[in-house]
Amino acid sequence: MPLTMDTLVSLSKRRGFVFQSSEIYGGTGSVWDYGPLGVELKQNIKRLWWRDFVQMRPDMVGLDAAILMHPTVWRASGHVEQFTDPMVDCRDCQHRFRADHVDARPWIHFCPATKGNKFEIPASEACPRCGARRTLCPDCGKGELTAARQFNLMFKTFMGPVEDDAAVTYLRPETAQAMFVNFDNVLQSMRLKLPFGIAQVGRSFRNEITPGNFIFRTREFEQMEIEYFVNPHEQVEGRPADEYWHDRWIGDCMGWFRRYGLREENLRLRWHEQDELAHYAKRTVDIEYRFPIGWSELMGIANRTDYDLKQHAKFSGKTLTYFDEERKDHVVPYVIEPAAGVDRALLAFLADAYQEEEVRGEKRVVLRFHPELAPVKVAVLPLLKKRDEIVRTAHAIRSELAKRWRVVYDDTAAIGRLYRRQDEVGTPYCVTVDVQTVGDRDKGEAGDGRVTIRDRDSMQQIRVSTGELVRVFEDLLSGEAWTAVAARFGGATTASAGA
Ligand code: GAP
Repeated sequence: MPLTMDTLVSLSKRRGFVFQSSEIYGGTGSVWDYGPLGVELKQNIKRLWWRDFVQMRPDMVGLDAAILMHPTVWRASGHVEQFTDPMVDCRDCQHRFRADHVDARPWIHFCPATKGNKFEIPASEACPRCGARRTLCPDCGKGELTAARQFNLMFKTFMGPVEDDAAVTYLRPETAQAMFVNFDNVLQSMRLKLPFGIAQVGRSFRNEITPGNFIFRTREFEQMEIEYFVNPHEQVEGRPADEYWHDRWIGDCMGWFRRYGLREENLRLRWHEQDELAHYAKRTVDIEYRFPIGWSELMGIANRTDYDLKQHAKFSGKTLTYFDEERKDHVVPYVIEPAAGVDRALLAFLADAYQEEEVRGEKRVVLRFHPELAPVKVAVLPLLKKRDEIVRTAHAIRSELAKRWRVVYDDTAAIGRLYRRQDEVGTPYCVTVDVQTVGDRDKGEAGDGRVTIRDRDSMQQIRVSTGELVRVFEDLLSGEAWTAVAARFGGATTASAGA
């Protein structure tokens, strides 16, 4: 059965990934809170992105700018004038829609051919009984829609104590502009040479008209953006530098999503048509993912040319150029912008990891997260919670491993159920402490100090001494294959029934 968004919403709530914001008050429209496991997953996504695209690269630096910026930033960037969507309202139920999205919704129809009975007709189809097409509100089927009006997506707020127009400012709708505004600060303070990039991870806000689809389109979200500045007069491998770097970034971003588990068949590139390009863009490509709602944008990679630096130079009166030593000339760099959404990446990783399978006649839900993404890396489980020594040993192992990784202890169910719970949240490894580990003092039997490590994906097990656990998890969690590690311990065994 194809995966639905409802399945992900329900798993996310049940297992502490994502909750509706202010749920006890009826919820806030299209704003979501990340629960205990969601916050770990989200932090892992941001940490890996930062590690791979900033920390590991000599040509990248970071920035953490304020959300509230000078209001002129948004006039210079074009957001005050152009960051709008056409909006229509229903005169009856007051529901609001994006004019260009109304026809993509199923619609309510009171069919005259059946004495006005109410039907839901699939998006953009005619009523099969009377042949009518939608003209009224798709939600209530009664109200007329207003003519389209342009609606600015920026959230307005007021700075300072006086609520007058002079104090109006905006919550940033993208993190990008802070990188342009700080271009000269970063260039001078870090003595950078082109090409170089500035990266930022942070919150953005958009008063989307028709948000929805869980965390796919929300009003408050996080972005991971890079502005990569190149010298437009340079050639790289026989091509203009901006075109060369645009393609390099497309490849690097696709590679990043594949590396952390998104399957090839669920990823594709979509080039923007000339008439759909943003006003600043020379060429834009979206990386699309096959979400449960269909193929949709996961991130965009635009060639923004020198538009932004020139605009900010014009509006601020400051020089935003780079001195090209070779040509002895000041140039305005071109910008390649890989712009990703953290929440959308999380949704894609969650959807791709989700699998249902049958194990010994029972349904198993498993999130096959890449180990570096998994919210919890190891769960330590005592086989018998009534045996003090087993429990003590399990707690001691958890404390030791928790110095390095997110590790949990759980003794609230039988072992089979504990394994299933960890599978369902994507924990790649469980460690089980049993009687053999600690021995039986009453019977004068010594323990062997070994514990069982169980692999989430194969459900195979190996026995390892407690002193070796840190080394083993260093190898497993840094990407060494389970089979290779298991071979060092005499090979894995298949778990007994229930495990
Ligand atoms: N600076 C360029 C920029 O912001 P964008 O395509 O509007 O470009 C980049 O946004 C990415 O941010 C998108 O590909 C998406 O992943 C994420 N994003 C944008 N709007 C969003 C929203 N309302 N909810 C969740 N994510 C969003």
